[in-house]
Amino acid sequence: MSKKDTVTLIDNSTGKEVELPILRPSNGIPTIDVRKLYNELGFFTYDPGFLSTASCHSSITYLDGLKGELQYAGYPIEQLADHSTFLEVCCLLINRELPSDEEFEEFKNIITHHTMLHEALKRFYSGFRRDAHPMAIMVGVVGALSAFYHDDIDIHNPQDRIIAMHQLIAKMPTIAAWSYRYAHGLPFEYPRNNLDYAENFLHMMFSLPTEKYVPDPFFVKALDLIFILHADHEQNASTSTVRLTGSSEANPFAAVSAGIASLWGPAHGGANEAVIRMLVDINESDHDVQYYINRAKDKNDRFRLMGFGHRIYKNYDPRARIIRKTCHELLSHLGSNCQYKDLFDTAMELEKIALEDEYFISRNLYPNVDFYSGIILLAMGIPLNMFTVIFAVARTVGWITHWNEMIQDPESRIGRPRQLYIGALPRDYPEDRK
Ligand code: SDX
Repeated sequence: MSKKDTVTLIDNSTGKEVELPILRPSNGIPTIDVRKLYNELGFFTYDPGFLSTASCHSSITYLDGLKGELQYAGYPIEQLADHSTFLEVCCLLINRELPSDEEFEEFKNIITHHTMLHEALKRFYSGFRRDAHPMAIMVGVVGALSAFYHDDIDIHNPQDRIIAMHQLIAKMPTIAAWSYRYAHGLPFEYPRNNLDYAENFLHMMFSLPTEKYVPDPFFVKALDLIFILHADHEQNASTSTVRLTGSSEANPFAAVSAGIASLWGPAHGGANEAVIRMLVDINESDHDVQYYINRAKDKNDRFRLMGFGHRIYKNYDPRARIIRKTCHELLSHLGSNCQYKDLFDTAMELEKIALEDEYFISRNLYPNVDFYSGIILLAMGIPLNMFTVIFAVARTVGWITHWNEMIQDPESRIGRPRQLYIGALPRDYPEDRK
């Protein structure tokens, strides 16, 4: 190994040193391979939140946080948003190549014919209270899939893995729509094979036995775009959860259920719901936008500007830029009397003030994908508590593609981080308590 491909770490307390290899990426930040650090120098690395830690190598998605760039297998998100569809993006993520027309037709046919659920799964919904959050239902029902397909899958068999991946991509919209139907006391609508992915989801959400719901084509296109933009995002918290869960060789349905649970948090996928609640609070309060900006800056106030800031993007989230434009287009499509225009106006005022404020500028805090997405979903008639469910439907392809990449990676092993122990030293059980 030449010197230019290594770093040398010296323990100044003993003079011992170790030479660590530099692993160079095809694009982005090089990494230091610290796997032999403990055995050769007796140290762990310490990196809570993994700000400077690469947990794996991956060829699926690339982010450049400083430039605000996102690529799926090398294709810029802006180009995929303009020219692709969600199911074509699924093929791209799974295979790292765009499908031929024949491959795409075969994939669409497979997904279309896996959208039904085992009828016994319907009974899982009735165990939930009517006011259960749909994300709680998603965690439960997706996890329950492992009871229906668990024995069929050998995770070391590539064919079994691809079948499970197809099942999850195909069934998530049905499970999601039914969580909405159950909460509203509506009969479950079955998927229709003549509808595309986004349209089928809207059909299962809003069609009634008394009348078929024919969605506005603008909504179908906007929802398919939201699915594309949320499909994958490298090693985010929920994807890392799926990888860690899958590293124990748990089945993919259980691993995706764990990913859904992680995504639910307001710091992660739950932010889209939290953004709307924040915008509604602002519009209904007697305070102006500046008041909320000041609260977001106040260390003694837990209030944060939801939809702002990102662990990786220290520039505008490219997805937010695309969604902001679509939001604009949708609201002008719906006409100036659209009831959600006031939320959009407040969001744009918040963005304008924040982007000129030293606190946000100095911390590189910009709108992220969640800042505008909720307004589009609201305009479609999708209720607040379904927003993160939509995110989970889209991110399922990312989760299972990373799961598949991990399982087939010869370097992959069960994830088992270490710690910096700061607890009590060894001591004996007190005599007077024996
Ligand atoms: C998603 O990882 C992914 O890729 C996620 C995601 C994906 O596609 O999977 O992109 C989807 O989860 C987007 C993020 C959605 N979450 C939110 O919008 C919630 C609001 N944002 C924050 O809570 C926060 O920005 C995070 C959680 C997104 C990022 O947190 P970090 O990287 O741990 O940053 P931090 O908390 O250390 O913040 C750095 C500074 C702090 O101030 P100081 O201590 O330096 O003085 O910025 C401040 C923070 O207080 N800050 C904010 C803020 N976000 C960060 N201050 C006010 N409002 C905010 N939103």
